[in-house]
Amino acid sequence: MAEVVLKEVVKHYGAHIAVNHVSLTVGDGEFVALVGPSGCGKTTTLNLVAGLIPMSGGEIHIADRLVNDLDPKDRDIAMVFQNYALYPNKSVYKNLAFPLQMRKLAKPDIDAKVKEAARVLDITHLLERRPRELSGGQQQRVALGRALVRDPAVFLMDEPLSNLDAKLRVQMRSELKRFHQDLHTTVIYVTHDQLEAVTMADKMAVMSGGFLQQYDAPDMVFAKPVNTFVAGFIGSPAMSLVPVQVVRKGDAVWLRSVDGWEFELSAENGHKALSATSDKVVLGARHSTLRIHKSAEPGTVPGRVYIVEPTGDVTFAQVKLGASIIIVSLDPHFPIAPDEPVFVEFNQNKLHLFDGETQMALAAA
Ligand SMILES: Nc1ncnc2c1ncn2[C@@H]1O[C@H](COP(=O)(O)OP(=O)(O)OP(=O)(O)O)[C@@H](O)[C@H]1O
Ligand SMILES: [Mg+2]
Repeated sequence: MAEVVLKEVVKHYGAHIAVNHVSLTVGDGEFVALVGPSGCGKTTTLNLVAGLIPMSGGEIHIADRLVNDLDPKDRDIAMVFQNYALYPNKSVYKNLAFPLQMRKLAKPDIDAKVKEAARVLDITHLLERRPRELSGGQQQRVALGRALVRDPAVFLMDEPLSNLDAKLRVQMRSELKRFHQDLHTTVIYVTHDQLEAVTMADKMAVMSGGFLQQYDAPDMVFAKPVNTFVAGFIGSPAMSLVPVQVVRKGDAVWLRSVDGWEFELSAENGHKALSATSDKVVLGARHSTLRIHKSAEPGTVPGRVYIVEPTGDVTFAQVKLGASIIIVSLDPHFPIAPDEPVFVEFNQNKLHLFDGETQMALAAA
């Protein structure tokens, strides 16, 4: 078990900066999910921790050791990749035993470690089979087992479930979580599946364009996104974001859209809005915090239903407020049709305000 510390880590590819001054501490035994859109630098960050590619700058410490100049094999890590090539002609047992044989462990020690890993991963009954005689999920567990037998200080996993079908993914997700609960090993887990991150991780590191945008517990990232990028990335469907103008009317503070609709802010939100660097702010609202009315109530803004998307448990309606589209979740029985005029109510306690210039969340004074 070990803490992993990244300090101002940088990776250039020519003029392109794939990882830009990322600082991050993964606590001993913590499960951290690295998330972000394609190309944001997740795999590069993981490869830097593993030592598979040279760094352009910064420091990486694993278990209180500066590992910048250490080979991957000396870093006490095990990696599990998306493509978990198993040895096709070796049995599961031999696949698991191989890394230990390479390290010249005694036969009884190897046997004990293989059996323990097989027990944890529930593949004891598969030890004599070959990889092609296994399902995708079973193969994935063998790949994990191969990392597990090495008993590393840190597990690094790069989208290890992305090859699996939807049902297996969910199953393996639970098993990975269980595995972490049992072993308390430090894990850095790259995924672009938010649900995987939210359900498994103690903390989420959200990256974009090589920068670390936010690093916090999943519920905090969800409840208090630090900027419009995180707000628009986390959550499914993501938070609706609408650029608006802050307008003072006597003591009151209103938000006004270029499309003409406006509504008054609560005192607290008014303070937040006035702390912006200009009169431009971005209004953010999650689908579950919006309400649809069929007639104009005080505080509502007029819109028109654009698309209705039933998903079974919940129906999502995309509503056009002028040029902007916001997403509202509804009871599946709520009567609503495309092109219908509706009135949208923002929950003042749940709305988010971001600075229109810096895109950073505005906090209460
Ligand atoms: N060997 C390389 N040479 C040049 N550029 C690279 C190299 N490897 C990665 N990059 C670039 O660095 C950036 C980050 O890549 P990286 O693979 O870390 O993204 P990622 O977040 O893992 O994306 P994905 O979700 O698609 O796997 C991308 O713009 C990519 O094109
Ligand atoms: Mg990647």
